[in-house]
Amino acid sequence: TAAGPLTGRTVVVTAGGTREALDPVRYLGNRSSGKMGVALAEAALAAGASVRFIGAAMDVPAPSGAEVTRVESTGELREAVFAHCAGADGLIMAAAVADFRPAEYTDAKIKKTEDGASPVITLERTPDILAETVCRRTEGADVPPVIVGFAAETGDDSGSVLEYGAAKLQRKGCEALVVNQVGRDQVFGQDTTEVTVLFADGREPVQAAGSKAEAASVVVEQLAGLMGREVQ
Ligand code: C5P
Repeated sequence: TAAGPLTGRTVVVTAGGTREALDPVRYLGNRSSGKMGVALAEAALAAGASVRFIGAAMDVPAPSGAEVTRVESTGELREAVFAHCAGADGLIMAAAVADFRPAEYTDAKIKKTEDGASPVITLERTPDILAETVCRRTEGADVPPVIVGFAAETGDDSGSVLEYGAAKLQRKGCEALVVNQVGRDQVFGQDTTEVTVLFADGREPVQAAGSKAEAASVVVEQLAGLMGREVQ
């Protein structure tokens, strides 16, 4: 590990998209490539941190130099986050976590029927891992003092991306929220991004644009700042 502002610190990074199984061969997933999470892990390693990387489904390899745990579903990610947060100094929740999952898992492959009827899939909400982790801290669990969430927002007629971000930061209760604008061809899977880091303590938002590696180093710099370690 390199010497840097995060030397001696341990950071948990989640990345990729969760997959929620419907039956043994099918799942509900999302377009997350894992690139941003991997870039964040690499930036934290470059800043001298020990990194515990928790990867859901990704299009890219896990970062070398990190302690890697692979998961598939939101339930598995939740358990891995709780387990790896113990003794860590920071958590960056970059994973695209499913908001809904099939309410029931079918043990055998769902089959087409002779009558041509379409199956109805009932969904249920998944647990919000980020909000739950913040809650666990207030209950005295061993949870990092600095938690950074992500928000992929599309914005719409009734509100801007940053307004949604500010409301989400409050709702989640974490120390900072990295907001980016997404769409079908924007951000997900791309090599470049544009992010705004919002802070719960009222400090001025910080913007970063460029490669995901560049944006990740700005996020990690802000993480170090929140840990009381300013980057030289
Ligand atoms: O509410 P939304 O999904 O936009 O919040 C995004 C942030 O919350 C991300 O940091 C994501 O990793 C986290 N999240 C979570 N558990 C969920 C949904 C999102 O931890 N079920």
